[in-house]
Amino acid sequence: MSESPTKVIQLTVNGRSERHTVTPRQHLADFLRENLGLKGTHLGCEHGVCGACTVRLDGQIVRGCLVLAVQANHKTVETIEGLTAARSIVELQEAFLAHNAMQCGFCSSGMLLTAAELIEKHPMASREDVRLWISGNYCRCTGYHAIVDAICAVIQARQKATLESTE
Ligand code: FES
Ligand code: FES
Repeated sequence: MSESPTKVIQLTVNGRSERHTVTPRQHLADFLRENLGLKGTHLGCEHGVCGACTVRLDGQIVRGCLVLAVQANHKTVETIEGLTAARSIVELQEAFLAHNAMQCGFCSSGMLLTAAELIEKHPMASREDVRLWISGNYCRCTGYHAIVDAICAVIQARQKATLESTE
C-alpha cells in the first residue's frame, strides 16, 4: 500500500513563522490543534456549519474546517490565542464576561472572531445586523441574547467614544 503524499508548508501563525509537513487532506483547524497545539480553535460539525473553527486567514475570517492546511501555505493565520495575547479583541472579551455571554465556552472563540470582524467592517451595525452576522455561529448553550448584548455593548461604546472625540 502506498503512503499518502505529504507537503511542506510554511506560514505565519500568530506572528510566528512555522514550517511543517502535512498531508493534502488535513484541514487548517486540525493542523492548528494537532501540529501547533492551538486548542482554542474548536471543532464542532467539521463541515462548515457551526463556526466553532473560525480563524483569520490573511486578515479575513474563515472556517478552519473548510480550508486545507496546504491552502494556508505562505499565508498568515491568527487564532484566538494570538488575538488574546495581542489584546486585540480585549473589549469584546471583557464584554462577553460582563454580559455572561459564555456558558461552556465551546462557541466563544468563533463568536469572538466573527464579532470582531463585524465591528471592524460595520462599526454602525444595529442589533439586527449583529443577530444576522453571527447567525452562522452556533451556540449549543443557546446564550444568543447575552452574546448579542455583549457585541452591541462594544459597538455602542465605540460609537460613543468616536462621538466624544469629535466634539
Ligand atoms: S467545525 Fe468548522 S464550521 Fe463547524
Ligand atoms: S457557550 Fe456553550 S456553545 Fe456557546
